[in-house]
Amino acid sequence: MKNVDMDFEDVVKQRRSVRSYDTERQVSDEQLKKLFELVKLSPSSYNLQPWEFIVVKDVENKRRLKDCAQGQKHVEECSAAVIVIADTNPMSHADDIFEDRLKRGYYTAEQKERNLNKVRELAKKSFEERRVWAVRSTSLACMTLMLAAKDMGLSTCPMEGFDAGCVKKEFKIPDGYEIVMLITLGYEKNRPLPRLKRYGFDDFVHFEKYEKK
Ligand SMILES: Cc1cc2nc3c(=O)[nH]c(=O)nc-3n(C[C@H](O)[C@H](O)[C@H](O)COP(=O)(O)O)c2cc1C
Repeated sequence: MKNVDMDFEDVVKQRRSVRSYDTERQVSDEQLKKLFELVKLSPSSYNLQPWEFIVVKDVENKRRLKDCAQGQKHVEECSAAVIVIADTNPMSHADDIFEDRLKRGYYTAEQKERNLNKVRELAKKSFEERRVWAVRSTSLACMTLMLAAKDMGLSTCPMEGFDAGCVKKEFKIPDGYEIVMLITLGYEKNRPLPRLKRYGFDDFVHFEKYEKK
């Protein structure tokens, strides 16, 4: 399953946004399990892991998702379309995760309480601030998913072209969750055209302070 010929650099270089999938080949539950075991190792703010994923494999459900996603056909043709959602309540896992830190000796009881208080303060902030907080960590999990998939010989496409209200309603996503993106997953049929323009090192890397390029 793993593409033994690819080292990390190859995985990064070979990952492309794939919009053409082999509808005859499905991603197995075992592959999904392996993929999400890697996804869960992504970093997150305080290790609070605000990400959750709805894996849509059923043909009719993928069609409903496509209808919420500007009719983009790869949503229907991929083996599994993943709805990536982020819990904007920082307290959801806080007691459990901070207790784990205490048990493992990362925190003293005093540090645990101090940091828990910081998260309690975060939880009082505006929805907009909590949304940014949750999306930061969850986006990193998305990138892990895409690179891990590539390493397993699978292709993906991240997508923001969807109607969030429609996705929420159709897939029963509760209030307080932000839909971060959709990611299609499957075996590619056609390789995408060569990569589009990428800016160079000197165009986007600054040293010490921002300087207009
Ligand atoms: C946040 C985000 C949203 C995107 N939305 C869509 C989308 O709705 N539909 C789509 O086909 N591709 C979408 N893409 C894929 C981009 O078009 C693609 O990443 C970009 O053109 C670079 O190509 P590459 O991923 O093959 O390197 C999205 C990518 C990102 C990161």
